[in-house]
Formats: sequence, structure tokens, C-alpha cells
Amino acid sequence: MKIKAQIGIIGAGPSGMVLANWLKKHGISAVILELRSRKYVEGRVRAGLVEQNTKDILKELGLDARLQKEGVVHDGVFLSFDEERVHIPFGELTGGRTISIYGQQEITKDLTDAWLAGGETLHFETKATKIVDFDTKNPKIHFEKDGEEGILECDFVAACDGFHGIGRKTLPTKSFQSYDITYPFSWLGILANVAPSTDELIYAYHKNGFALHSLRSETVSRLYIQVDNDDSADNWSDDRIWSELSTRLAAPGFTLKDGPIFEKSITPMRSHMIDSLQSGRLFLSGDAAHIVPPTGGKGMNLAIADVKHLVDAFVGFYKHNNEEKLNAYTQTALQRIWRAQDFSNFMTQLFHKRDEHGSFTYRLQKAKMDYLKISKAYRTTIAENYVGLPLNHLK
Ligand code: FAD
Ligand code: PHB
Repeated sequence: MKIKAQIGIIGAGPSGMVLANWLKKHGISAVILELRSRKYVEGRVRAGLVEQNTKDILKELGLDARLQKEGVVHDGVFLSFDEERVHIPFGELTGGRTISIYGQQEITKDLTDAWLAGGETLHFETKATKIVDFDTKNPKIHFEKDGEEGILECDFVAACDGFHGIGRKTLPTKSFQSYDITYPFSWLGILANVAPSTDELIYAYHKNGFALHSLRSETVSRLYIQVDNDDSADNWSDDRIWSELSTRLAAPGFTLKDGPIFEKSITPMRSHMIDSLQSGRLFLSGDAAHIVPPTGGKGMNLAIADVKHLVDAFVGFYKHNNEEKLNAYTQTALQRIWRAQDFSNFMTQLFHKRDEHGSFTYRLQKAKMDYLKISKAYRTTIAENYVGLPLNHLK
């Protein structure tokens, strides 16, 4: 099988699907290859926190109808330390910017539905095996589908294929430096059929470890707790999870409602970066190039911010015969990526139990939280990073 498109996209996650739909709006053709089945991609439980920029992009694409209807707008967040809570009001501190809670898989579903409804091509259960000739004007993606081999010929390859994809592995090793932090803890995440016990998210440091109360809807709660890296979800009965969450999220006047848990999984925490997102006509975006720990909810939003710069670059090339933005893609995207790396690392270090309660590390964490209580400037710093700096402020 031989197919052609201007842009060959690997991966139908948030970055690949936003890229495809956005290019289409500019009359640039794309074909997407996705390793997994449609059912798998649409059922994969991941992010929930949608930044203002992401909401604005989906609105510009005209693909935010369900997000507007079903997403829950949050105008603030609670930060809790040793059972004492500080409220960070976003609107007041950031000039009206907010976040919404709406599942990543719902965004992906909306984007996929729109793509396929427009008669565009997306090959599910198709594995990109090799990217070749990306140092020429005719790069090719080799792939396997239904036991057969095929080639996607394109002008550019967009590797939106996540952390385990082939995009990063294909970049010449000498073309980038990588940076990594592996944290000594993981998150056990659950989804439960119970109304959220809070209107806004709660991030909590507790002497037993971190906990996060998030949600998906009026009837579904999403919660996380810090566990050891070698722990297993099998060690956590529903009763043990609820009891631990209720201890860690405790605050005066707060009661945690429990209910049937229908999804339980452990995610390791990692910060990963490479400092070049392109080589010749191969471009990376999203988790293919960077991973942030989920404390702060930046990963998907960052993936979609990369795509904005990639779209600008392709539009410059095809519509204005100008390669400036293509050549500058890495430098443009890196500014925001490093900002998000710093904020995600900051939130991770602040809220997780990293040393004995009462240790020097603990005292430094507590000093930050005490400062947060008295400083509007510090609260503003957290608020503007949390809702996401405007796309035109930070490239
Ligand atoms: P992915 O979503 O990983 O998509 C890559 C796609 O490429 C996949 O569908 C994969 O199957 C496909 N693929 C891989 N290899 C190949 C191949 N060889 N051929 C064809 N296809 C291939 N982010 C937030 O912004 N907010 C949050 O609240 C948040 N919470 C999170 C909570 C958890 C528990 C976790 C694990 C992550 C969270 N994230 C969050 C991060 C977010 O989920 C990711 O950053 C996001 O999925 C990145 O999107 P992507 O499109 O770059 O990559
Ligand atoms: C989620 O709702 O899944 C979520 C929210 C905020 C985070 C991470 C995950 O920081």
C-alpha cells in the first residue's frame, strides 16, 4: 500500500488530532497512522485538566461544543498542607483566565469524530515502523497494517507518537541532549461513581503522602494518591484507598464522600526533555519530546501548545513560502516547555512527601506554603502558571 499526504502524522492522541484538524482548516492535507484501535484510544483514561489556551484553540477550530456543554469550568484551586487549605482564585489573579475539567479521551474523541466525519484518513491499528529520507524533500513513513507493509509519502513527518513512539528514537542521537528526572514515587489514580466532595481541585501534602481530588462530572470523581514506585494496585482495596484519601485530604469541615471505584491504575512520575524537536523534515510534538509529572496538569496542554507552533510553521511554508517558523520551531516551543517543566517539578516537589515529616526538606516545603498564605504575588505566580501563560506571552 502506498499513500500520500502533505503531512504524515504518527499518533492519534491529542497532539496528532489537533494538528490534523488545524491543518485541514488551512487547506493542508494530512494522513494519520495510529498503532492502537479506535476503542482503545477513546477509552484510555488520562488527563482531565484543560488550560485556557487549549480551550481557546478548540474554540478556534470550532470543536469545543461538547467541551462547552459537558466540561466543568473551575475558577480556582485549593492547595492544602498539613490539613490547612489555601484558595487560589484564578479569575481574580489572572485577569479572568480559567481551567476546565474535561477528559482527554473526550477531546480526542471530538477531534477524531470531526476528522472522520469530514471524510479524512486515519488508519487505526497501524504501526509506523520506520521514518526514512527525512533529510530530503520526500520523507517516508513505513508502516504495517493487517500484516501488510505500506509507505506513507509526505513533505513532512509529524511524530506525535508519545513517549514510546518512534519519532524521538529516529532523531539523530547527536542532534539533541536529553534531560531526565525519575521521582521516587508514583500515583495511584482512581475513577469512582460518586459525586465530587469539592467544587474545585484539591492538591494536598500530608505526612502520609500526596493526594489530589479531581473529578470528571457531577457523578464521577477522579482521585490520586502518592504510592511507592514498587507498589501495586492489587495492594489497594477500595476501603484502603478511601480511608487513605480521607486522611490525606482532611481539613476542618471537609468530608470525603466515597463510592464504587471502577478504574484503578499506577502511573510513575517522570520529567523528561530533549532540546531539539526537529531534524530535517521530521518534527516532534507532545509527549514524543517531553514528559512532565502530572502535578499541575500540564502534559496534554503542552502537547497542544507545541502543535500551535507547528501549524504556524507549516502555514508559513505552504501559504507564505517562508521557512522561518519551521526553522525556529524548536526554539519557539522550548520556551513554553521549560516553563511547564519548571512548574510541574515545583508542584511535584511541593506536595509530595519526599523526606521524613519535620526534616529540612519538609521545612522548606512548609516555608513555601506559609509564604503562599501571606503573599498575593506568590499566589499569582502559581495561578498564572496553573491556568497557563497566554500563547502570545510565552511562545
Ligand atoms: P499520546 O497521548 O501518548 O499519543 C500518542 C499516540 O501515538 C498514541 O495514541 C499511541 O498509540 C500512538 N503511537 C505510538 N507509537 C506509534 C507507532 N509506532 N505507530 C503509530 N502510532 C503510534 N496532561 C494534562 O494536560 N492535564 C492533566 O490533567 C493530565 N493528567 C494526567 C494524568 C495521568 C495519570 C497521566 C498518565 C497523564 C496526564 N497528563 C495530563 C498527560 C497527558 O495525558 C499527555 O501529556 C498527553 O497524552 C500527550 O499527548 P500526545 O498526543 O503527545 O501523546
Ligand atoms: C485529572 O483530573 O486527571 C488531573 C487533574 C489535575 C492534575 C492531574 C490530573 O494535576
